[in-house]
Amino acid sequence: MFETLQSRPADGILALMQMYKDDPRQTKIDLGVGVYKDATGLTPIMRAVKAAEKQLWEQQDSKVYTGLAGDPAFADAMIDLVLADAVARDTVAAVATPGGTGAVRQAFELIQMARPEARVFVSDPTWPNHISILNYLGVEIVRYRYFDKDSCGVDFDGMIEDIKTARAGDVVLLHGCCHNPTGANLNLTEWRAVVEVLNDTGAVPMVDIAYQGFGDGLEEDAAATRLVASSVPECLIAASCSKNFGIYRERTGLLMAISQNVQARKLHQDTLAFLNRQNFSFPPDHGARLVTMILNDAALRADWQAELEEVRNNMLGLRSQLAAELQRLSGSDRFGFIAQHRGMFSRLGATPEKVEEMRQKNGIYMVSDSRMNIAGLNEHTVPILAKAIVDAGV
Ligand code: LMR
Repeated sequence: MFETLQSRPADGILALMQMYKDDPRQTKIDLGVGVYKDATGLTPIMRAVKAAEKQLWEQQDSKVYTGLAGDPAFADAMIDLVLADAVARDTVAAVATPGGTGAVRQAFELIQMARPEARVFVSDPTWPNHISILNYLGVEIVRYRYFDKDSCGVDFDGMIEDIKTARAGDVVLLHGCCHNPTGANLNLTEWRAVVEVLNDTGAVPMVDIAYQGFGDGLEEDAAATRLVASSVPECLIAASCSKNFGIYRERTGLLMAISQNVQARKLHQDTLAFLNRQNFSFPPDHGARLVTMILNDAALRADWQAELEEVRNNMLGLRSQLAAELQRLSGSDRFGFIAQHRGMFSRLGATPEKVEEMRQKNGIYMVSDSRMNIAGLNEHTVPILAKAIVDAGV
């Protein structure tokens, strides 16, 4: 029977990871997959994570199942981190999921279950796996304008015009901070205008927040998500711990569904637990437990926040260095957006041909849409990248 299977196109980001591995050049530079790297190219285990793992090893005396929603203490800690007191806790249903992707997948399934005719509006561009999962589930996708390729900032007017066409019960997917793949983000005034459109149309927001703490700081990066959650009747939030806790392979995420009242919350909670049961039963616990321990222990939390700040400032420093180097080499300010963008990524605005040219000639690996992982750089590789960009005539 399996001869009926059709081969699937490889995920572009994951295929690039493999190409990079296979390239024998010592001088190659990996700006592909969204994984933080320090100046030596290592993706370190954060100090607080190591310390929590040690404590856990010493103290944990059972690996028995948690609950279908995961440990409620994880949900509480994460709701506090993402939402603080933006909404009443008893209106938030939440389940632990295998990573942020798991939360996104469960959210899309919830949408499909609640309203099969709902369309999901996604930014153009968005994280390619959003599109892939929506297509896989057969959910209708509508793209809204987002990236302005001339300024490399947000096409805000285009975005507003497009999301105004959403109908009540459609879903508008928004990146809470550090937009992936562009690095271009809305300011709070613009977020308020988006909220107004959501309320006018009756469309339901779904916020994907995978990089809290990588942009302007933990609180600053959550501000838009909190604004949305506190201003609309219903909202979904998919949060990832992969990047800000550096626990990628532990698959740690949380899906939150905010409803109008406590009764609706119960229905949400039961449905989300049901969906977990259908897809993987109990969510992974190890990463979630580490996150809970860190967030609930003052010393671990302080150390985690300090290290996260180091990570964030390192990326900001690399952004400024790259923008300055490009300005020096090109004699133009047109790359200033790199210092304005936030998070791990910037979309350079180069054609796939130029991206390919830089890969072949210089061993520089960026996603074909010219998304660069800024954390893949260090102070020595920034000038090499800048020269390659200018030489390629980007
Ligand atoms: C990325 O965008 O590179 C990351 O979110 C990793 C992934 O799974 O694609």
